[in-house]
Amino acid sequence: MSDKKNCPEVKVAILGIGTVGGGTYKLISRQAEELPDKTGACVSVKKVLVRNLNKERPGIPKEILTDDWNSILQDEEIRVVIELMGGIEPAKTYISEALKAGKQVVTANKDLLAEYGEELTELATENGCDLMFEAAVAGGIPIIRPLKNSLVGNHITEVMGIVNGTTNFILTKMSQEGLDYETALAQATELGYAEADPTADVEGLDAGRKMAIMASVAFHSRVVSSDVYTEGITAITPKDIRYAKEFGYEIKLLGLARHVADGIEVKVHPMLIPSTHPLATVSDAFNAVFVHGDAVDDTMFYGRGAGEFPTASAVLGDVVDEVRHILGNSTGHCNGSFYKTVPVKDIGDTECRFFLRIQVEDKPGVLAGICSVLGNNGVSIAQVVQKKKTRGAGGAELVIITDSVIEKHFQDALTIFKSMSMVRKISSVIRVYE
Ligand code: NAP
Ligand code: HSE
Repeated sequence: MSDKKNCPEVKVAILGIGTVGGGTYKLISRQAEELPDKTGACVSVKKVLVRNLNKERPGIPKEILTDDWNSILQDEEIRVVIELMGGIEPAKTYISEALKAGKQVVTANKDLLAEYGEELTELATENGCDLMFEAAVAGGIPIIRPLKNSLVGNHITEVMGIVNGTTNFILTKMSQEGLDYETALAQATELGYAEADPTADVEGLDAGRKMAIMASVAFHSRVVSSDVYTEGITAITPKDIRYAKEFGYEIKLLGLARHVADGIEVKVHPMLIPSTHPLATVSDAFNAVFVHGDAVDDTMFYGRGAGEFPTASAVLGDVVDEVRHILGNSTGHCNGSFYKTVPVKDIGDTECRFFLRIQVEDKPGVLAGICSVLGNNGVSIAQVVQKKKTRGAGGAELVIITDSVIEKHFQDALTIFKSMSMVRKISSVIRVYE
């Protein structure tokens, strides 16, 4: 046990006391007794930045609340700033000012890091400070630290998985409980998984930001959110989920980042994944990340990807590291190494299998016409089923799963389908994991 009377003190400030900020405050309080033994210092929250001093904040002492950022910035006792407000501004300004003032920064802000990670990590290093962001990717799962430290002896070639809790929760509820999309999204928001604007979750942007951050760290080359091809889950229907099951698949929103010979491939989109694959059983707000390295081979990280305490767990892990670095005078050395410039490939040049649900005329020669367009564009069919005829309307529904094909060749075939009178509607196009 540490001698608490002679224990050095490290004071921290939390900016934003919502889901994650509130969880972090409670976890620091819960751990207060043990933190001196774990870190060598007594760690306490000196100030909490809020926008509205009059809002009720159950469990947070009123006297530590402030709406004045400068009172935190100028407080020399505060050595660590924990940014949990989210968004670009004022988070970027506050983090930059904190680093320039020599304060260590911990953040869960993937929006900011996926766009300005390079600028902010350089600023941190220039000022002899650390910028830590374990909580920004996959909630409570330790993944940034393994990529930066434990696996640094590898040439990492692939990072992929389920990195958004909200969409995984929604797809699980739609698949397992037959819930409709809106009800499932409302539950995810109620549980604190969704972003302030859940569009970022359901359109795949949140997952895209996390993939940009992980790809940068894993491949030592900067990837920003606009480099990531992104599709969300809003077009997925109960029928797609049902048909996918009939073919032996689940539908998941997957993030994929690969370092291949001619560049980096990085994308987020829904995928059919075989029901027997470990990722198919990752349910609710759980996340899972696979990492492949040339030395370690395959590794998998699994846990809660969102929520108050899982995310606070990652935040506090970073805070503890910061306290240790402060006590050991070793700050400013863990901001990652981005010494390569690898081009990011266009989605059209990547390869994938596809699930295609298409409404066609029910006439002789239609199936042959569809197959010949696919064939002429180099798309080989793995499975094809005529699901049913549309009663009274003289139409039919075809469901096709292709072999692996260069994306742009498949898109060329879709463009031709759109101009064919025998094709009434392209209902769904979903990529298939192999
Ligand atoms: P949240 O519940 O919306 O909390 C954000 C808090 O920040 C709110 O209390 C808000 O105050 C406050 N805030 C916003 N702007 C502020 C400003 N200018 N000054 C002071 N306070 C300000 O969001 P959250 O879910 O905790 O997310 C926080 C961060 O963690 C985001 O970057 C998010 O992407 C990330 N993250 C969240 C999770 C999760 O599971 N929720 C997981 C991983 C990472 P008001 O009460 O006045 O609105
Ligand atoms: N909204 C995010 C999610 C929070 O659902 O995964 C965790 O980053």
